[in-house]
Amino acid sequence: MSTFEDYLKNVEIRELLEDLGTSEIETLVKEIKHFTEKEAEGRDKILLAYFGEDGIERIVDSIVQGLFSPPKPRKNAKVLDVGAGSGFFTMKVFEKLRRQLPKAAFYAMDLTPAMLLVLARKTSEITSFLGLADNIKGSLENAREYLDIPEKFEALFSTLMLHHSVDVEKVFESFREVVDVNGKAVVIDLCSHSFEEFREEMGDVHLGFNPESIKKAAEKHFSKVNTRKILGIHCNSSGRSAELFMVVMTP
Ligand SMILES: C[S@@+](CC[C@H](N)C(=O)[O-])C[C@H]1O[C@@H](n2cnc3c(N)ncnc32)[C@H](O)[C@@H]1O
Repeated sequence: MSTFEDYLKNVEIRELLEDLGTSEIETLVKEIKHFTEKEAEGRDKILLAYFGEDGIERIVDSIVQGLFSPPKPRKNAKVLDVGAGSGFFTMKVFEKLRRQLPKAAFYAMDLTPAMLLVLARKTSEITSFLGLADNIKGSLENAREYLDIPEKFEALFSTLMLHHSVDVEKVFESFREVVDVNGKAVVIDLCSHSFEEFREEMGDVHLGFNPESIKKAAEKHFSKVNTRKILGIHCNSSGRSAELFMVVMTP
């Protein structure tokens, strides 16, 4: 299989969702439509408008710091971004981690083909595949028919995907299934906010989260969970502003 476009020719998205056993096919198809039509091409600019250069830098540093908390990943670690979108953060984390882990291998999973096509245009060094955050194991099995992808990852991260997933607890269970016993997972997402209109405007399923509730949900699947607000950074959109939290989970 030579390119991501070639891989895409083999995947029919509804069939994949059925294979992955989700009961939310219509919700997910609507999400894919939203991200394809409203975000894929403009996602990088949207992120710059949300956070500014400084905010982006701090988010990237927070992810890298979380992934480097003990135990430190090995030089040839396998790193997965879940809900990678257009790969804006994937690329920045990739560039930073590669300086310290020169042999690390990078993978990006997302539900929306149009998002991953944008990522594939940026680099061929990150292996992208379609999948669902609440069944990463099944998504990997499906993708492995066409691509060379491992079963487990030492480092998994996810930015701003969680509030789009229907069943958050299932997502944490799914993370645990694919994180190596010596690995860790880092999630960054929005704290609870009151902007009901984000559901329509941005396709959001959750209006952010209370970090304490996230900690409790994650603790059902990971033995060590650290949650904290990322102070001083907000997601700003047309005068509306939401705080961010980060959670670091160790098996
Ligand atoms: C708000 S975007 C964030 C993308 C990227 N992480 C970023 O920070 O720019 C949410 C992404 O999650 C993907 N997504 C939504 N629900 C998903 C799910 N259940 N499994 C995998 N990806 C999902 C969407 O296709 C979209 O690309």
